[in-house]
Amino acid sequence: MCLTIPAKVISIKDGNPDAPVREIIVEDSRGERKISAISMPGLKVGDWILYTLDLAVRQVSQGEAKEIIDLLEPRREIDLSSLSPSFTNVLSKSFSKPLNRDDIIGLLSTENEMEMEALFSEANTLRQANLHDFFCIHGIIEFSSNCVRSCHYCGLRQPSENVKRYRMLTEEIIESAVDAVEGRGYKLIVLQSGDDFFYSDDDLVKIISEIKRRCKVFIFVSVGERSAECYEAMKEAGASGVLLRFETSKPSIYEALHPGQSHEERLKLLRALKAMGYYIASGFLIGLPGQEIEDIADDILLMKELGVKMVTVGPFIPSEGTPLSSHPAGSALMTLKVTAVARLLMPKAKIPVTTALETIESEEGRRLGLSSGANSLMFNLTPEKFRADYSIYPNKYHGNEELWEKYGLFNESLSYRMLEQKMFEAFEATED
Ligand code: 5AD
Repeated sequence: MCLTIPAKVISIKDGNPDAPVREIIVEDSRGERKISAISMPGLKVGDWILYTLDLAVRQVSQGEAKEIIDLLEPRREIDLSSLSPSFTNVLSKSFSKPLNRDDIIGLLSTENEMEMEALFSEANTLRQANLHDFFCIHGIIEFSSNCVRSCHYCGLRQPSENVKRYRMLTEEIIESAVDAVEGRGYKLIVLQSGDDFFYSDDDLVKIISEIKRRCKVFIFVSVGERSAECYEAMKEAGASGVLLRFETSKPSIYEALHPGQSHEERLKLLRALKAMGYYIASGFLIGLPGQEIEDIADDILLMKELGVKMVTVGPFIPSEGTPLSSHPAGSALMTLKVTAVARLLMPKAKIPVTTALETIESEEGRRLGLSSGANSLMFNLTPEKFRADYSIYPNKYHGNEELWEKYGLFNESLSYRMLEQKMFEAFEATED
């Protein structure tokens, strides 16, 4: 499900309103452009449309257009003269050369308001230039809250006793996914659980192949560290991607927080998954104990090295009953800076605003993320009766889904086909 930024029709070349294809000129915040409108009889100068690439996909009312602009385009005034020359140099370098570790540390370290605004704005511009105004909404179904691991930060860690554990039935998982796709227009679904071996490899294969048989959707699996054979079989069944964070690039931090797990094994698995042809969604937590800015720079470089197609970075949020329950939450501002720097390094990657950022910043987190280089949202599609029990951390944010979903473009078959095509291209194009 995707949405675009609205534009106003300022002229129409073909005067015949019934012509199947009409050339129109539209204007939005970045100026004018020529696009085509297909099968939009009655479209006239002054109307508002949503468009993606060179095609108008839907007419919207002026009120709706304003609503979307307000959601997606906060205005920021930047006084360039107040930026330090070294900061400006790094920013402008990012358009022509890859940023190195020192450059990244410099960008992440700034606390100067104007410099941060300039960073966010550069990332936003780069996102627009590379991905146009093509925001996507993905869905996540959290199908089991059971986990064999004991990660120190996670509310669902195996030793947590005050957690209600649930497992969705195979049929329930399939129905939820099909409903999200057919009923609500989602095109990319993440199937997530703790590391729960209750589901056999065959169960996972059956879930994936049945969803793929019943509807057209990209499936990302997020089921933790399972065997290479299991991942091979899921790929064969139709899974396109894997969401598996490396959590931190620093082995000593990783090993202190993940009893019984090895950083090396985690990275080995991620590399093997890439070699299998999976799209990799990976990233890290911000605000882990012992994490320095230099480590965050290394985390960003590791995402780039792994060739992730989807960046997933969120602030740590303390969770009751875990060893890190009194460790302070990660910084929302640092999360935005990381989002922006990730966009500078990976201009075409998918960067969702993570729920953890929304949880500490609410709707504003969503808006800020989307104007700092992020280009997608991840909505929770777990059935209501289970949702509160997937308690990785407390008070997970969700809200305004209907408003956002309302602008999904999949109701018309034309835009459906086109966006599906764009989705494939967007994935394929992230190889830098
Ligand atoms: N705060 C923020 N994110 C967390 N995760 C687990 N626990 C927390 C927490 N307390 C993230 C991990 C994991 C993902 C599923 O959830 O990064 O990979």
